[in-house]
Amino acid sequence: MNNRYTVVLAAGKGTRMQSKLYKVLHKVCDRTMVELVLDSVADLNMKEIVTVVGHGAELVKKAVGNRSKFVLQSDQLGTGHAVKMAKDILADKKGTTIVMYGDTPLIKSETVDNMLKHHEETRAKATVLTSYTENPYSYGRIIRDEKGKLLKIVEEKDASVTEKQIKEINSGIYCFDNELLFEMLELVKNNNTQGEYYLPDVLYLLREKSEKIETYFCADFDETFGVNDRVALSYAENVMRKRINEKHMLNGVTLVDPSSTYIAPNAIIGRDTTIYPNVTIKSNTIIGDDCKIKPNSYLENSKIGNSVDVLQSTIIDSEVGDNSTVGPYAHLRNNTVLGSDVRVGNFVELKNAKYGNGAKTSHLSYMGDVTVGDNTNIGCGTITVNYDGKNKYETKIGKDTFIGCNSNLIAPLEIGNGVVVAAGTTVTENIKDDTLAIARVKQENKEGYAKRLPAGRK
Ligand code: UD1
Ligand code: MG
Repeated sequence: MNNRYTVVLAAGKGTRMQSKLYKVLHKVCDRTMVELVLDSVADLNMKEIVTVVGHGAELVKKAVGNRSKFVLQSDQLGTGHAVKMAKDILADKKGTTIVMYGDTPLIKSETVDNMLKHHEETRAKATVLTSYTENPYSYGRIIRDEKGKLLKIVEEKDASVTEKQIKEINSGIYCFDNELLFEMLELVKNNNTQGEYYLPDVLYLLREKSEKIETYFCADFDETFGVNDRVALSYAENVMRKRINEKHMLNGVTLVDPSSTYIAPNAIIGRDTTIYPNVTIKSNTIIGDDCKIKPNSYLENSKIGNSVDVLQSTIIDSEVGDNSTVGPYAHLRNNTVLGSDVRVGNFVELKNAKYGNGAKTSHLSYMGDVTVGDNTNIGCGTITVNYDGKNKYETKIGKDTFIGCNSNLIAPLEIGNGVVVAAGTTVTENIKDDTLAIARVKQENKEGYAKRLPAGRK
């Protein structure tokens, strides 16, 4: 096997997106397009991956991270010019270079792999991935000679009326003999309608030199779909969503209504879990087996155990243990970690809360910066008063404790094991194990008084 390199072009602004955000950073199913393109070569043994950045360089670098080297293209003079920017890193290397554009998010790894194999087996000096579409507008067209061999690629804006009829298109994904690629890039000119240095011209130059050029046909046009505006972005989103949803269904997950189920590409979902309509599962979320993720739930960067029931709730950056139930209308965030058999009910907000096994907060509470021991019950309306307007403070509650309804827990605070806090108590002092704490004004009953009051006179 040849040494393999990849160059991904991601320097363009993406004018047609009409956006402050640079094109390749727009997301398809919660993953940036440039990351999706890089994903497609992640398992193909690349010796070197170079991403060409320009507009929004720092943001693109941040999105891509350390999986690639970067080169800067300060002026966007065309796709050929962009590849040339990788010269210092790649030009003297022997092997095969794949060039991809950062705006083709639907390309599959197996297709790139097959193209690479075809390129290597045929010993071609260049191979271009082509596809067929009924609506080829805006794509480069594949022009073949009388023998059916690739002659050249003509851009939409340079194409004649007859060339525009051609429905075989350039995907923008190529394999090149690395050394020849950089040699030919020196010869590419910008004498075209857009005044740009076109990468596809390298193919024509190689043909002129009688080098072997191949095309590799991708039967699924969607894989080669290029995103240049937001109409295309929504199309890509739909294709990707369908793909992701079908993968999960085939793996044993029930999606009650796939058309309203939004799952990020890297989410993991266990068998016999059911996802109900209008559920969003964002990146880095793992859900176990036998869960029910019921309507209108939103899960992000979170880990859900087995047999968990989530209803109309939002779970962000948090973990939920086995057999727990969350919701309806609960909000877990900021490193909340729940043990097993926990119950978090209606209108409960948990922030940086650690709950032991069997702990419960069933109604109308805010519990923030708190540890709650096993089997402790937090009554309806309990609030951790964790913020004094400037700093946040922690509350520690032991196991088998019972916090009565409508208690205020003024942090910093430690409440022991087996404690009972009477309803309506504002707790300001630490409470030792097995203690009853009560702090409320004593009730007085004035018999007969009710009739003297306006309400009592009726
Ligand atoms: C390009 C191809 C076209 C192909 C289509 C497939 C050329 C000249 N045209 O057209 O044949 O059918 O893709 O989707 O190659 N970029 C840079 N620097 C530049 C110019 C572009 O990094 O100077 C990057 C862009 O960020 C983008 C990619 O290259 O990710 C492609 O550029 P774009 O303007 O989208 O080209 P298309 O018009 O789609
Ligand atoms: Mg494009």
